[in-house]
Amino acid sequence: MGSQNSRPGKVLPVINESLDSEAHEQFRYLLGRRFHNVSDITYDLPNDEDETPQLEERCNVLDVGCGPGTWAIEMAMNYEKSSFIGIDISPIFPMEIKPNNVNFEEGNIMDGIPHPDESFDFVHMRYMFPSFTQSQWEEIVMNEIVRVVKIGGWLELCEYELCQDCGPVLENLLSARREMLIKEGRNPDVAQIIGKLMRDTQHFDDICHKTKEVPIGSWAGKIGEVGRDNIITRMIGIKPALSPFMNISSEQYDEMMQKSIEEFNEYKTFFITSRWYAKKKAKNTT
Ligand SMILES: C[S@@+](CC[C@H](N)C(=O)[O-])C[C@H]1O[C@@H](n2cnc3c(N)ncnc32)[C@H](O)[C@@H]1O
Repeated sequence: MGSQNSRPGKVLPVINESLDSEAHEQFRYLLGRRFHNVSDITYDLPNDEDETPQLEERCNVLDVGCGPGTWAIEMAMNYEKSSFIGIDISPIFPMEIKPNNVNFEEGNIMDGIPHPDESFDFVHMRYMFPSFTQSQWEEIVMNEIVRVVKIGGWLELCEYELCQDCGPVLENLLSARREMLIKEGRNPDVAQIIGKLMRDTQHFDDICHKTKEVPIGSWAGKIGEVGRDNIITRMIGIKPALSPFMNISSEQYDEMMQKSIEEFNEYKTFFITSRWYAKKKAKNTT
């Protein structure tokens, strides 16, 4: 959740310059805000209380399309006073080994989120662009996720935008994937219209948009290896749909995948991710 320094009544935290040396090693301070102090990590938003004021209190948080529940579990561990719910159409989340303040539910967003209007202080949804057709985004998904945010609560959406510096084989796979999505009525460029989708609900005025480069491949160190493994998992996941669409055999697909993995380091590939967040207001009635 992002910081809005213009929030009425919000006083910027006073940074205690006499923090002990251990705390100074963990954090870096710039212009009165606290940041992580890990040199090869590009994440550049503060981690102080102004950044996450409400989550330090007792918030109800929903993660839509939570998958294995990674985000919800990490957040639940960081914000013990808040309660987290993850919802996904496939019950691939843990039901037993998890923090007490996170619960998971099986559910299809298309049937409606099984919670009353305005039940959550913060609703988060990430990497869902291929899950819905453009008309589903416009007519169902946005209404549903906004419906369950409290007035004064926050909505945050995060999606992959573009691949930069792709090698030719990866480019081939990505174009085929785009073509397949378009044919099925899904918009591969949803990331570029999310701001508009949020604005069209008439519940958001000041929508913050931040982009981030996510390096893919060991050329970028550990973070690049994580990005690479994530993309490989996705490429394996879409193989059953994409290889017949491309009219190639399973072996040919594997060969293309292997070549694109080799290209990551050669071309220093990275993806751009985008996130949008905004505070919900009552709908304009005029
Ligand atoms: C690419 S994964 C993203 C998982 C998670 N948000 C993350 O950031 O790791 C997309 C998830 O959306 C879920 N999903 C797709 N369509 C859905 C629907 N109609 N209702 C609920 N979940 C859905 C899938 O089961 C999958 O777990």
